[in-house]
Amino acid sequence: MAIEIEQPRVGLSKIAVSKTHGEDSPYFAGWKAYDENPYEEFGNPSGVIQMGLAENQVSFDMLEDYLEQHSEEASWGKKASGFRENALFQDYHGLQFFRKAMASFMEQIRGGRAKFNPDRVVITAGATAANELLTFILADPGDALLVPTPYYPGFDRDLRWRTGVNIVPIHCDSSNNFQVTPQALEAAYKSAESMNIKVRGVLITNPSNPLGVTIHRSTLEQILDFVTLKNIHLVSDEIYSGSVFSPTEFTSVAEILQWRNYKDCERVHIVYSLSKDLGLPGFRVGTIYSYNDQVVTTARRMSSFTLISSQTQQLLGLMLSDEKFTGNYITKNRERLRNRYEKMISGLRNAGVECLEGNAGLFCWVNLSPLLESQTRESELAVWDLILHRVKLNISPGSSCHCSEPGWFRVCFANMSEKTLEVALKRIQIFMEERKIKSD
Ligand SMILES: Cc1ncc(COP(=O)(O)O)c(C=O)c1O
Repeated sequence: MAIEIEQPRVGLSKIAVSKTHGEDSPYFAGWKAYDENPYEEFGNPSGVIQMGLAENQVSFDMLEDYLEQHSEEASWGKKASGFRENALFQDYHGLQFFRKAMASFMEQIRGGRAKFNPDRVVITAGATAANELLTFILADPGDALLVPTPYYPGFDRDLRWRTGVNIVPIHCDSSNNFQVTPQALEAAYKSAESMNIKVRGVLITNPSNPLGVTIHRSTLEQILDFVTLKNIHLVSDEIYSGSVFSPTEFTSVAEILQWRNYKDCERVHIVYSLSKDLGLPGFRVGTIYSYNDQVVTTARRMSSFTLISSQTQQLLGLMLSDEKFTGNYITKNRERLRNRYEKMISGLRNAGVECLEGNAGLFCWVNLSPLLESQTRESELAVWDLILHRVKLNISPGSSCHCSEPGWFRVCFANMSEKTLEVALKRIQIFMEERKIKSD
């Protein structure tokens, strides 16, 4: 239980008292409202439905079946082999067979179009740790990373809080479906320069959270050209790469480097984790894949702070090495996510709500701007508040993702059963009908 201290008399560090953790945004406030009154089909049918959590629960049955069939892999004890080795293992290189399995899983997700060398895989406790670790390595306090908006609200914490690094937004808007343009890149760079802030890199999320779309290959090429021209880094957070509905619609920066014969590759770093594609955020399994030897070595040293337990490596390493299982899982998981997405957008369309056309992820980017009284952040938050407290749906307002256009919301669809999704869609439909009657 939390201990409340009204007037702390003992001082804390600047980091501890700083507000750059970003956790006082509506993104996290919505989670609290859900926690206080969670929807349950029978226990609490009028509770809040959590649609603000990018969690993948649609493929748990396949993981559970695998574990049931391979129960010896999850068991420990005198008879089980490897207990003592695993209990004592704490090398920050991680188990070699796990790194190998991770590299080949990352290749499999990309349809074999990109190659990953296990020696370049650095293991971290999730993508959260990977992104922070890379920021520590690439930038000094006061420097900046350019990040396209809208972006995952957790970046405010992960990239800024403990590192002292700034995020300078690359503003993207609906005029071109929120794709990054060379003009937007240049404008963000200039804006940092005008504030006397040194830009150290660009960080992209591909496919994008919160948009649920992949970045076009030509756009990726332009971003790579830009970072090369400015002599800065490129971090590509590809943690949703396995949730692209059709694998051919995703191009990894790794593929482009391969096509370019690895020219200038030492400025490129990929972040990946099993939190989304395998739906295992609780296992805290992430990686940094860098083409820069010094970054690999430093990241490995720093990963001492954020290692994954050897038990987790052992269990998941065996599962990821089973290519028959992973191949089947990847295909079925994509299909199920696409079905969910389609169900979601057709339900929204029936209610008169439009979304950005998506092709990936666990969410869609919904346009509720027609409901806004004025095209401002305040009006957006008023709609968010109404939907949270009256319709009882926790969705994330675009402003919490730093979207510069008011009225967009991220709505997650893979963290609940199909039945709950139907209840959520029904609630939206009723809400929209009531609004229509009111305005007629
Ligand atoms: C783009 C992005 N990066 C990183 C993370 C953090 O992932 P992990 O659970 O692996 O730390 C998330 C989680 O939502 C995310 O959406």
